[in-house]
Amino acid sequence: MITKFFYYLYHKFLKFFLPLIRIPFPRLIKGEGSILQIKYILKPNYFHPLIICSPSIIKNHLLDSLLEDFKINNIDYSVYSNVKPNPTTSLVYEGRDFFIDNKCDSIISVGGGSAIDLAKIIGLLITNSKENILEYKGLLKVKKKPVFNIAIPTTIGSGSEASVAAVITDEKNNDKFAINDPKLVPDVALLDSNLLANLPKNIIATTGMDALTHSIESLIGRASNKFITKTSLNSIKLIYNNLYNCYQNGDNESCKNMQLASYYAGVSFTRGFVGYVHALSHSLSGEFDIPHGYANAILLPVVLEYYGKSIYNKLSLVSDCLNLTEKDASKKDKTNAVITWIKELNQAMGIPKKFSLNITENEIEKLMSHSLLESNPFYPVPKVLSSEDLGNIYHLVL
Ligand SMILES: [Fe+2]
Repeated sequence: MITKFFYYLYHKFLKFFLPLIRIPFPRLIKGEGSILQIKYILKPNYFHPLIICSPSIIKNHLLDSLLEDFKINNIDYSVYSNVKPNPTTSLVYEGRDFFIDNKCDSIISVGGGSAIDLAKIIGLLITNSKENILEYKGLLKVKKKPVFNIAIPTTIGSGSEASVAAVITDEKNNDKFAINDPKLVPDVALLDSNLLANLPKNIIATTGMDALTHSIESLIGRASNKFITKTSLNSIKLIYNNLYNCYQNGDNESCKNMQLASYYAGVSFTRGFVGYVHALSHSLSGEFDIPHGYANAILLPVVLEYYGKSIYNKLSLVSDCLNLTEKDASKKDKTNAVITWIKELNQAMGIPKKFSLNITENEIEKLMSHSLLESNPFYPVPKVLSSEDLGNIYHLVL
């Protein structure tokens, strides 16, 4: 009881302290074919960018037009294309050495959250003196601005192009951890919807649900304010109107709107934080290599139901914004309407209600302690939950 009281005090402190930290916005460049503007962005200060991406970005020819443009304009570049899902600390060191060996001076990160987060950490290791990544774990540990970074999302969920966070897996204990610092916000967020053509359906579904989780967790959190509320609702409305279309038809307009929704969600959660959905899913992904958005999608409705009355006010705003119920419906009914919409959206996109994992009670204990360590008291959640609560939630989805 006393511990919970101190957590709530800490959340109050966060609510007042956070607006005092100046979080920059990246320079936003959007539009079909905007990737070809990079040559103008680099000039006159950068001459040899390191492109950081996964092998699939190269294989699917997403960079062909950019590399051709660099060739025409005599721009040197190097490509580090070894990014993997849920990247580990050893990849960061490998990427840093690659940057130094090739005498690069800037970064272009292309991909989902894995590539952009990895690039942020490589960039900070180049300019900061501490060599061990673990020393930057937590909040405000980055002294010097990382290398100039143009972030180009090719999925519709991470919001990493707008965020202060970079998540990485410590391979020694399979623990995902976050580095949070305003200096990690990329210098440029470039949203080119042409890069979303041929995005696989399962990636649209899971990354789209990750964006929804960012918007909802920052909206219901105790650090939320007018700006976060407005930005989150904008994002949620775009997701409501476009995610299923984007999944079902893959049309450029829906995908373009989802790209913007994901960016807004990134702007929101980087100011309002995430919550237990992310804490629970990070542990699962770290331990069992489950895609981040997939884990969030399954956990989101279950955690929202577990919060009960504490989120009635905020989810009623969502319901009103989406016209899910009559305006005079009760807050409980409005909240249930939002949770039902999320469940139906998951189902329509083939996301199950539970994970199919063979998992022991000992492993659940380990997951609980990791997620408790990540969330309490750091996330300004609407209702503080205990380890027993987190265990109950795991039992509902495992
Ligand atoms: Fe996320």
